Amino acid sequence: MTDHVLVERPDAYPGVQLIRFNRPEKKNAITRQMYARMTEALTAAGTDPAIRAMAFLGTEGCFSAGNDMADFLAFAMGGSMGGEVLDFLRALAGATKPIVSGVDGLAIGIGTTIHLHCDLTVSSARSVFKTPFVDLALVPEAASSLIAPRIMGHQRAFALLAAGEPLDAAGAREAGLIWKIVEETAVEEETLSAAARLAKKPPEALRIARDLIRGDRSDVLARIEEEAKHFAAQLKSAEARAAFEAFMRR
Ligand code: COA
Repeated sequence: MTDHVLVERPDAYPGVQLIRFNRPEKKNAITRQMYARMTEALTAAGTDPAIRAMAFLGTEGCFSAGNDMADFLAFAMGGSMGGEVLDFLRALAGATKPIVSGVDGLAIGIGTTIHLHCDLTVSSARSVFKTPFVDLALVPEAASSLIAPRIMGHQRAFALLAAGEPLDAAGAREAGLIWKIVEETAVEEETLSAAARLAKKPPEALRIARDLIRGDRSDVLARIEEEAKHFAAQLKSAEARAAFEAFMRR
């Protein structure tokens, strides 16, 4: 298992499981192994009564630059996609415990869309949220094509997901993608303490409240599958391959 994803239960924040991207030399780009590790952690948290809230964090100045481009290119060249990404998205969308995320800096691709499945997202003012799917000849994923228009309206969702326009932290808060903006140095503490406060609440009441607020998730899970079919087909396209090769050549 890779240490590019660290899974911890910090003593200072009882009841919280932290999943931390830890590949700063590659801007926390997420490989298949990293997805697998996160799925394992989410799945274990679902059945462990000692874990009452989950948290996602990146490293200083970078949440994640999204899916690993080398993995994209390997698939575009005919390799196997594997089930790691889809398994992760299913586990994330189906999670039954509250999720808090903390962003400082870059949040690209799934580094942005992951927050649509989080219940509270804390961000520094310098963070930038961006999904260049179409520029890479890809399509939105993680049911973002369904959830984003619901929370931010068609125009802002289109600007983010189809036009690839970046959202700064203030714009992300205004659009309802994130909860609050704090000092860079406070992102971790605010994220983990928000998760710890949730972990202290009566778990069954919190679970029901979260389910009611999130609503029925069958449409979200179905959209993940629908997007994934298009995503896989586009990954094999000549235009996507050219975009990945251009990135790898830089
Ligand atoms: N996959 C694989 N490696 C990545 C990566 C990704 N998604 N994003 C960054 N990296 C790597 C770079 O290749 C570089 O590696 P190297 O030092 O071995 O050459 C390292 O991380 C640092 O990135 P670099 O591009 O030099 O940093 P930057 O600050 O100039 O730019 C980004 C940062 C994130 C803006 C830029 O790397 C980028 O656009 N990445 C791709 C993001 C993306 O499109 N993700 C997929 C979304 S669907």
